[in-house]
Amino acid sequence: MEIQLTDFENAAFAIFIVLVTRAVLSFNTNFYIPISKVDENMKVAHHRNAVLEQKFHFRKQIFPQSRPGTPSGSPKVSSATLPETTSTTAAAGGVDRSDEYELMTINEIINGNPEKGYPGLLGLVNNYLNTLNIDIETRCEISKYLELIKKRANGTLMTAASWIRQFVQTHPEYKQDSVVSERINYDLVKMVEKINKGEVQVPELL
Ligand SMILES: *[C@@H]1O[C@H](CO)[C@@H](O)[C@H](O)[C@H]1NC(C)=O
Repeated sequence: MEIQLTDFENAAFAIFIVLVTRAVLSFNTNFYIPISKVDENMKVAHHRNAVLEQKFHFRKQIFPQSRPGTPSGSPKVSSATLPETTSTTAAAGGVDRSDEYELMTINEIINGNPEKGYPGLLGLVNNYLNTLNIDIETRCEISKYLELIKKRANGTLMTAASWIRQFVQTHPEYKQDSVVSERINYDLVKMVEKINKGEVQVPELL
Protein backbone atom coordinates (compact mmCIF):
# COMPACT_ATOMS: atom_id res chain seq x y z
CA MET A 1 0.00 0.00 0.00
CA GLU A 2 1.55 3.24 -1.13
CA ILE A 3 1.35 6.68 0.38
CA GLN A 4 -1.64 8.54 -1.03
CA LEU A 5 -2.05 12.12 -2.22
CA THR A 6 -4.21 13.41 0.63
CA ASP A 7 -4.54 13.03 4.39
CA PHE A 8 -8.05 11.73 3.90
CA GLU A 9 -6.88 8.85 1.71
CA ASN A 10 -3.99 7.99 4.01
CA ALA A 11 -6.37 7.96 6.97
CA ALA A 12 -8.78 5.76 5.01
CA PHE A 13 -6.14 3.15 4.19
CA ALA A 14 -4.76 3.19 7.74
CA ILE A 15 -8.24 2.77 9.26
CA PHE A 16 -9.12 0.04 6.79
CA ILE A 17 -6.00 -1.99 7.54
CA VAL A 18 -6.44 -1.69 11.31
CA LEU A 19 -10.09 -2.76 11.05
CA VAL A 20 -9.16 -5.71 8.82
CA THR A 21 -6.64 -6.91 11.39
CA ARG A 22 -9.24 -6.59 14.16
CA ALA A 23 -11.83 -8.45 12.09
CA VAL A 24 -9.34 -11.21 11.26
CA LEU A 25 -8.57 -11.75 14.94
CA SER A 26 -12.20 -11.47 15.96
CA PHE A 27 -13.56 -13.97 13.40
CA ASN A 28 -10.54 -16.24 13.50
CA THR A 29 -10.21 -16.06 9.72
CA ASN A 30 -7.44 -17.63 7.69
CA PHE A 31 -5.98 -15.84 4.68
CA TYR A 32 -2.98 -18.12 4.16
CA ILE A 33 -1.94 -18.84 0.60
CA PRO A 34 1.42 -20.18 -0.59
CA ILE A 35 4.13 -17.55 -0.51
CA SER A 36 4.88 -18.24 -4.20
CA LYS A 37 1.34 -17.07 -4.98
CA VAL A 38 1.92 -13.91 -2.94
CA ASP A 39 5.00 -13.30 -5.11
CA GLU A 40 2.90 -13.71 -8.24
CA ASN A 41 0.36 -11.25 -6.85
CA MET A 42 3.11 -8.70 -6.23
CA LYS A 43 4.29 -9.00 -9.84
CA VAL A 44 0.80 -8.69 -11.28
CA ALA A 45 0.09 -5.69 -9.05
CA HIS A 46 2.70 -3.71 -10.98
CA HIS A 47 0.76 -3.89 -14.22
CA ARG A 48 -0.91 -0.72 -15.36
CA ASN A 49 -4.45 -0.42 -13.95
CA ALA A 50 -4.01 -3.76 -12.19
CA VAL A 51 -6.68 -2.80 -9.67
CA LEU A 52 -9.36 -3.22 -12.33
CA GLU A 53 -7.76 -5.42 -14.96
CA GLN A 54 -5.83 -8.11 -13.11
CA LYS A 55 -6.73 -11.04 -10.91
CA PHE A 56 -4.96 -12.08 -7.75
CA HIS A 57 -4.56 -15.34 -5.88
CA PHE A 58 -6.70 -15.15 -2.79
CA ARG A 59 -8.06 -17.62 -0.29
CA LYS A 60 -11.62 -18.88 -0.83
CA GLN A 61 -12.17 -20.61 2.49
CA ILE A 62 -11.43 -17.90 5.05
CA PHE A 63 -13.60 -19.03 7.95
CA PRO A 64 -12.78 -21.97 10.23
CA GLN A 65 -13.85 -25.18 8.45
CA SER A 66 -16.37 -26.26 11.08
CA ARG A 67 -18.56 -23.28 10.31
CA PRO A 68 -18.28 -22.68 6.58
CA GLY A 69 -19.41 -19.32 5.32
CA THR A 70 -20.25 -17.78 8.66
CA PRO A 71 -18.13 -15.76 11.02
CA SER A 72 -17.56 -17.41 14.37
CA GLY A 73 -18.45 -14.13 15.99
CA SER A 74 -16.29 -14.67 19.01
CA PRO A 75 -14.54 -11.39 19.55
CA LYS A 76 -11.06 -10.93 20.92
CA VAL A 77 -9.43 -14.18 19.89
CA SER A 78 -5.86 -13.82 20.96
CA SER A 79 -3.16 -13.90 18.33
CA ALA A 80 -1.74 -16.97 20.03
CA THR A 81 -4.58 -19.02 18.58
CA LEU A 82 -4.20 -18.05 14.95
CA PRO A 83 -6.21 -20.36 12.69
CA GLU A 84 -5.09 -23.62 11.20
CA THR A 85 -1.52 -23.72 12.29
CA THR A 86 -1.54 -27.22 10.85
CA SER A 87 -2.00 -25.97 7.28
CA THR A 88 1.63 -24.99 6.81
CA THR A 89 2.95 -28.24 8.17
CA ALA A 90 0.45 -30.18 6.09
CA ALA A 91 1.53 -28.28 2.99
CA ALA A 92 5.12 -29.17 3.74
CA GLY A 93 3.96 -32.78 3.87
CA GLY A 94 2.86 -32.53 0.25
CA VAL A 95 -0.89 -32.06 0.67
CA ASP A 96 -2.43 -30.38 -2.35
CA ARG A 97 -4.10 -27.22 -1.14
CA SER A 98 -4.60 -25.53 -4.48
CA ASP A 99 -8.39 -25.72 -4.03
CA GLU A 100 -8.13 -23.37 -1.06
CA TYR A 101 -7.41 -20.30 -3.18
CA GLU A 102 -8.36 -18.96 -6.58
CA LEU A 103 -7.88 -15.94 -8.81
CA MET A 104 -10.06 -13.01 -7.83
CA THR A 105 -10.46 -9.41 -8.90
CA ILE A 106 -9.65 -6.70 -6.38
CA ASN A 107 -13.35 -5.85 -6.40
CA GLU A 108 -14.15 -9.40 -5.25
CA ILE A 109 -11.39 -9.40 -2.65
CA ILE A 110 -12.43 -6.07 -1.15
CA ASN A 111 -16.18 -5.88 -1.79
CA GLY A 112 -16.95 -9.58 -1.88
CA ASN A 113 -18.97 -11.69 -4.25
CA PRO A 114 -22.59 -12.28 -3.19
CA GLU A 115 -23.03 -15.09 -5.75
CA LYS A 116 -20.25 -17.07 -4.10
CA GLY A 117 -21.24 -15.97 -0.62
CA TYR A 118 -17.85 -14.33 -0.28
CA PRO A 119 -17.94 -11.39 2.14
CA GLY A 120 -14.81 -9.59 0.97
CA LEU A 121 -12.57 -7.68 3.33
CA LEU A 122 -15.08 -4.84 3.62
CA GLY A 123 -17.88 -7.29 4.37
CA LEU A 124 -15.71 -8.73 7.11
CA VAL A 125 -14.96 -5.26 8.49
CA ASN A 126 -18.64 -4.28 8.44
CA ASN A 127 -19.61 -7.52 10.21
CA TYR A 128 -16.95 -6.77 12.78
CA LEU A 129 -18.22 -3.20 13.28
CA ASN A 130 -21.74 -4.60 13.74
CA THR A 131 -20.50 -6.65 16.70
CA LEU A 132 -19.27 -3.50 18.43
CA ASN A 133 -21.36 -0.92 20.19
CA ILE A 134 -20.42 2.10 18.14
CA ASP A 135 -22.47 5.26 18.26
CA ILE A 136 -24.06 6.25 14.98
CA GLU A 137 -21.89 9.33 14.46
CA THR A 138 -18.66 7.37 14.76
CA ARG A 139 -20.04 4.69 12.45
CA CYS A 140 -20.89 7.34 9.83
CA GLU A 141 -17.43 8.83 10.19
CA ILE A 142 -15.81 5.43 9.62
CA SER A 143 -18.14 4.78 6.67
CA LYS A 144 -16.78 7.82 4.81
CA TYR A 145 -13.33 6.25 4.85
CA LEU A 146 -14.52 2.75 3.98
CA GLU A 147 -16.54 4.16 1.08
CA LEU A 148 -13.29 5.37 -0.49
CA ILE A 149 -11.81 1.87 -0.29
CA LYS A 150 -15.00 0.41 -1.73
CA LYS A 151 -15.14 2.81 -4.66
CA ARG A 152 -11.45 2.47 -5.47
CA ALA A 153 -11.89 -1.30 -5.58
CA ASN A 154 -15.02 -1.26 -7.74
CA GLY A 155 -13.69 1.27 -10.20
CA THR A 156 -15.96 4.18 -9.34
CA LEU A 157 -12.92 6.17 -8.22
CA MET A 158 -9.48 6.38 -9.80
CA THR A 159 -6.37 5.30 -7.96
CA ALA A 160 -3.65 7.88 -7.32
CA ALA A 161 -1.55 6.15 -10.01
CA SER A 162 -4.32 6.45 -12.63
CA TRP A 163 -5.00 10.03 -11.68
CA ILE A 164 -1.34 11.07 -11.87
CA ARG A 165 -0.97 9.26 -15.19
CA GLN A 166 -4.01 11.08 -16.55
CA PHE A 167 -2.73 14.41 -15.25
CA VAL A 168 0.58 13.99 -17.06
CA GLN A 169 -0.96 12.66 -20.27
CA THR A 170 -3.39 15.55 -20.55
CA HIS A 171 -0.88 18.24 -19.58
CA PRO A 172 -0.43 20.69 -22.47
CA GLU A 173 3.35 20.34 -22.27
CA TYR A 174 3.41 16.53 -22.42
CA LYS A 175 4.62 15.32 -25.82
CA GLN A 176 3.68 11.61 -25.51
CA ASP A 177 7.38 10.77 -25.19
CA SER A 178 7.45 9.53 -21.56
CA VAL A 179 9.34 12.66 -20.53
CA VAL A 180 7.85 14.31 -17.46
CA SER A 181 9.30 17.79 -17.64
CA GLU A 182 10.05 20.08 -14.72
CA ARG A 183 7.00 22.15 -15.59
CA ILE A 184 4.66 19.13 -15.58
CA ASN A 185 6.15 18.01 -12.27
CA TYR A 186 5.68 21.45 -10.78
CA ASP A 187 2.09 21.70 -11.94
CA LEU A 188 1.36 18.22 -10.58
CA VAL A 189 2.73 19.03 -7.14
CA LYS A 190 0.89 22.35 -7.13
CA MET A 191 -2.33 20.58 -8.04
CA VAL A 192 -1.87 18.04 -5.24
CA GLU A 193 -1.32 20.92 -2.84
CA LYS A 194 -4.55 22.57 -3.98
CA ILE A 195 -6.45 19.30 -3.60
CA ASN A 196 -5.13 18.95 -0.06
CA LYS A 197 -6.19 22.49 0.80
CA GLY A 198 -9.64 21.82 -0.62
CA GLU A 199 -9.21 24.49 -3.28
CA VAL A 200 -9.76 21.99 -6.06
CA GLN A 201 -12.33 19.19 -6.05
CA VAL A 202 -11.49 15.95 -7.81
CA PRO A 203 -14.62 13.80 -7.64
CA GLU A 204 -13.01 11.19 -9.89
CA LEU A 205 -10.34 10.57 -7.20
CA LEU A 206 -11.97 11.18 -3.83
C1 LIG B 1 -19.34 0.99 -6.51
O1 LIG B 1 -19.76 1.36 -5.22
C2 LIG B 1 -20.51 2.57 -5.18
C3 LIG B 1 -20.74 2.93 -3.74
O2 LIG B 1 -21.54 2.00 -3.08
C4 LIG B 1 -21.78 2.40 -5.97
O3 LIG B 1 -22.53 3.59 -5.94
C5 LIG B 1 -21.44 2.03 -7.40
O4 LIG B 1 -22.61 1.78 -8.13
C6 LIG B 1 -20.52 0.82 -7.45
N1 LIG B 1 -20.06 0.64 -8.81
C7 LIG B 1 -19.99 -0.54 -9.38
C8 LIG B 1 -19.44 -0.55 -10.77
O5 LIG B 1 -20.33 -1.56 -8.83
